[in-house]
Amino acid sequence: MEINGILSRCYSHIIKYQKHTQMQNKSKNVIVLTGAGQLGVAIVRRMAYGNKIFIADWKMGNAEIISKTLVEAGFNAVPYKTDISSRESILELIEAAKKEGEIAMFINAAGLSPSQSTKEHILAVDLYGTAVLLEEFGKVIKKGGSAVTISSQSGHRMPALSTTEDRLLAITPTEDLLNLEILKPKNIKDTLHAYQMAKRCNVKRVMAEAVKWGERGARVNSISPGIIITPLALDEINGPRGDFYKNMFAKSPAGRPGMADEVANVAELLLSERGAFITGADFLIDGGATASYFYGPLQPEMN
Ligand SMILES: NC(=O)c1ccc[n+]([C@@H]2O[C@H](COP(=O)([O-])OP(=O)(O)OC[C@H]3O[C@@H](n4cnc5c(N)ncnc54)[C@H](O)[C@@H]3O)[C@@H](O)[C@H]2O)c1
Repeated sequence: MEINGILSRCYSHIIKYQKHTQMQNKSKNVIVLTGAGQLGVAIVRRMAYGNKIFIADWKMGNAEIISKTLVEAGFNAVPYKTDISSRESILELIEAAKKEGEIAMFINAAGLSPSQSTKEHILAVDLYGTAVLLEEFGKVIKKGGSAVTISSQSGHRMPALSTTEDRLLAITPTEDLLNLEILKPKNIKDTLHAYQMAKRCNVKRVMAEAVKWGERGARVNSISPGIIITPLALDEINGPRGDFYKNMFAKSPAGRPGMADEVANVAELLLSERGAFITGADFLIDGGATASYFYGPLQPEMN
């Protein structure tokens, strides 16, 4: 009882302190995170101190838990309900964020893995949703601002597409993307193929968007993680493709899965001033699993 009382007094001091600093600094920068998962939170914790942070997720419960944890660690975070597969929902988030200040940083770590939904839904969230986010945040990002979106090693492992297909994924207007012949459900084998196409598309969109973001003096990059221990990865490791994933990290040069904080190391470079010359790029961080897939013990013919 006594301990609860002390904790509650500490909590109200934190809120008072945040309101005080907010009043002192009205032209505050805003940082927006979509996807209140482990990767997104690890990145936000590196970058967000002193700024207002919107934690957006389609599961309000996820956004609330993460915001509460951040507030209790001294951050100024608010939860927001956003479904990234809906342009309307994304625009609502942007409007709400703009009311609080200029959007200086954007992190997209929202997504569905192959075991979490249907191929149509994965394409709607991971491919179309990411494309709309990059387009809409690119219209409002502050001069000098930066962004990262989380792609995946999966996109690197898929066989090469033709130059024309890559170009179509990069520059087709967002509302026409899902009508492309290569993305029609009849041409998508399964949920893994949908995920791979989405992640390949993320990397191509980042390249094309970086040109437009550059006109505003802003930068955008993607990170392609390998297996990183998060609820999403655990769904895969414990799902129907579990043995495939366990074999993947066992036979990679690192011999283990990665941690969200290791991905945050790369994100910190890309989002900060130290990454000022990096834009339109993708960074593979997979413990060497892709290298092993092409040239080592993970080659398909050896498994
Ligand atoms: N963890 C890994 O091993 C791994 C590897 C490669 C790529 N990734 C990618 O990293 C990103 C983040 O994954 P994570 O591992 O942190 O998973 P996570 O499950 O911890 O977080 C993902 C979050 O996205 C949210 N989300 C899903 N669909 C959404 C939608 N339509 N709108 C808004 N929010 C939505 C979920 O509710 C969840 O909170 C995903 O794009 C995933 O594909 C993860």
